Amino acid sequence: MTTDSSDAPKAPAAQNDPGGQAMWGGRFSDKPAELMQAINVSIGFDRRLAVQDLEGSRAHAAMLQKTGVITSQDAEAILNGLADIGAEMAAGTFPFREEFEDIHMNVEARLRELIGAAAGRLHTARSRNDQVALDFRMWVRDACDRTGAQIRALQKALVAKAEPNAAALMPGFTHLQPAQPVTFGHHLMAYVEMFGRDASRFADARTRMNESPLGAAALAGSPFPIDRHMTAEALGFDRPAANSLDAVADRDFALEALAAATITAIHLSRLAEEIVVWMTPQFGFISLTDAFTTGSSIMPQKKNPDAAELVRAKAGRMLGSFTQLAVVMKGLPLTYSKDMQEDKVPVFDAFDALELSLRAMAGMVADLQPNIENMAKAAGAGFSTATDLADWLVRELGLPFRDAHHITGAAVKRAEHLGTDLPGLPLADLQALEPRIGEGVYKVLTPQASVASRMSYGGTAPDQVRAQIQRWKELLA
Ligand code: ARG
Repeated sequence: MTTDSSDAPKAPAAQNDPGGQAMWGGRFSDKPAELMQAINVSIGFDRRLAVQDLEGSRAHAAMLQKTGVITSQDAEAILNGLADIGAEMAAGTFPFREEFEDIHMNVEARLRELIGAAAGRLHTARSRNDQVALDFRMWVRDACDRTGAQIRALQKALVAKAEPNAAALMPGFTHLQPAQPVTFGHHLMAYVEMFGRDASRFADARTRMNESPLGAAALAGSPFPIDRHMTAEALGFDRPAANSLDAVADRDFALEALAAATITAIHLSRLAEEIVVWMTPQFGFISLTDAFTTGSSIMPQKKNPDAAELVRAKAGRMLGSFTQLAVVMKGLPLTYSKDMQEDKVPVFDAFDALELSLRAMAGMVADLQPNIENMAKAAGAGFSTATDLADWLVRELGLPFRDAHHITGAAVKRAEHLGTDLPGLPLADLQALEPRIGEGVYKVLTPQASVASRMSYGGTAPDQVRAQIQRWKELLA
């Protein structure tokens, strides 16, 4: 155990008697205006920090006892009272009251009702400033962990769908124009990579935020011989935050989590958009069951991908939340300002939306059925093996790629004119463009051959795709 300020003078225990006024009402003779209360009150949303608030208070009380700041008797009363409050919260009987403004004062007020005067000693060497910084940090830390687990669940769903489709042909697009054939499994695995980076962003953010603000007190630290290392350890932090001003003033941990959430939501929106497009009769690449579609109140034939559309839309909420908090924090002088009470709503909203989106997307991925025939047919359309022809001319005839590109362009033009595709183009037409072209060229013009040839690491050849799938199965196991 380390004691940060063991030689600091032991100040007298604070008399934190709320009396008839608000808890901070000692210097006030009048009650706040109703409007003041209306704009000040935060219990409506910060009640979501109840679990963290209790946990923080337990660790704080235990530390105050250990360091001799409060007596064992008071500590025991406080810890028992906090346990009762925890039980009330679990049972849904805890009275969340607007007159006590926020979660911190609601808990303290209830503690006083349950255990009497000893409750007033819990707030020794602590301020709501370090308390809220602590509670919120723990909430965001939990949210990062939950989100990481949900991302992994989505990745597993993608891998499971990719595996049987490692060799299933589909058109690969650039500019949403047919580009080169790929496999459906390869396409799904691209998202597994993206979501893997998203999960690692949450993990990184968690590592950086894992420092305890508790004991920074209002802003300057405490004159009591508190042990910040003890509370940091008890609450699962790597260490106490090293600067008390920073500890109460910054919310970059929340911004970083929202940035990670926004990037994840953007990835989700791209997959959602593809599901929407793939489901159109014009594409006809996939179908979703009734479980993840809705009907129309007027058009009986409709099966709409509403869940995908809503996931696509949530990216706007996420970026909105990031922007909201970034603007709240911008330009705030150190240290705490009440502006920062507005930090919670965007974070709660963003993580609610993100967690729902991740679960809905995992559900849709598991639910979707690829229409293999349609996709394979589309994979060969749009002269998608033109690059394969150009590469063949380079490889077999030694042409410079630029010349091969030109000849291939002319072949596409000819095929288009004849109303056929590249494999359907007569040899005589190809030879009219380059006399050295032989029958062998047709072997590379099918989408199967095109896909199978792309054996470079990370390429779309089914064996490469299977290797990706295998690697992720091990990583996610
Ligand atoms: N409800 C407040 C918040 O969320 C708690 C901190 C209040 N601190 C203060 N100095 N008024 O930020």
